[in-house]
Amino acid sequence: MNIVFATNNKNKIKEITPLLDSKIKILSLKDISCFDNIPETGNSLKENAFLKANFVKQHYNYDCFADDTGLFIDYINGEPGVYSARYAGEDGNSKKNIEKVLQKLNGVDNRKAHFTTVISLILNDKYFFFDGSVYGRISLKIKGDKGFGYDPVFIPDGYDISFAQMPLSEKNKISHRAIAIKKLIKFFNSII
Ligand code: IMP
Repeated sequence: MNIVFATNNKNKIKEITPLLDSKIKILSLKDISCFDNIPETGNSLKENAFLKANFVKQHYNYDCFADDTGLFIDYINGEPGVYSARYAGEDGNSKKNIEKVLQKLNGVDNRKAHFTTVISLILNDKYFFFDGSVYGRISLKIKGDKGFGYDPVFIPDGYDISFAQMPLSEKNKISHRAIAIKKLIKFFNSII
């Protein structure tokens, strides 16, 4: 069974491929020659994940899944949320995004936050959704240089180091995306 993962992020494809039964072949957007700028204009992670998967289904007629992730910070009513990638501007600069978060939480004690990932799957014209969240807090300053995005300021519950201070293998065991992907894999493996 061929299924498209609507991403150009090689790391995401690498993370999931070894976990799947060999009967399932994951194709990237590049593999199907999709170089479109897929719109992400939804107001929720679920909507955006669905928009991406549905775009591929409609335009390329492949079964497909797509993910969307956001960082939700309690004190600022869930910001940056669905706008996490471009919180500090359209260029999607992680350093600027982090600076904005630290500035908004300057002097604030309640630093609770969580990451959530939603995966939307379109298979045989049916829609399925899987999600995963990891809870933690925003650090007072940048810690570590691994990972990407908001990793240097996110400390998961039960740890006193940030995602950016952990080996990727450890982050991948507990992350929001890992939790959602595990649910997707369980589903795939139950239907083949
Ligand atoms: P995407 O939906 O996976 O593209 O994620 C949207 C944005 O959320 C990214 O541009 C990052 O800023 C942030 N993000 C997503 N996943 C992570 C993560 O695992 N660590 C830190 N930031 C993340």
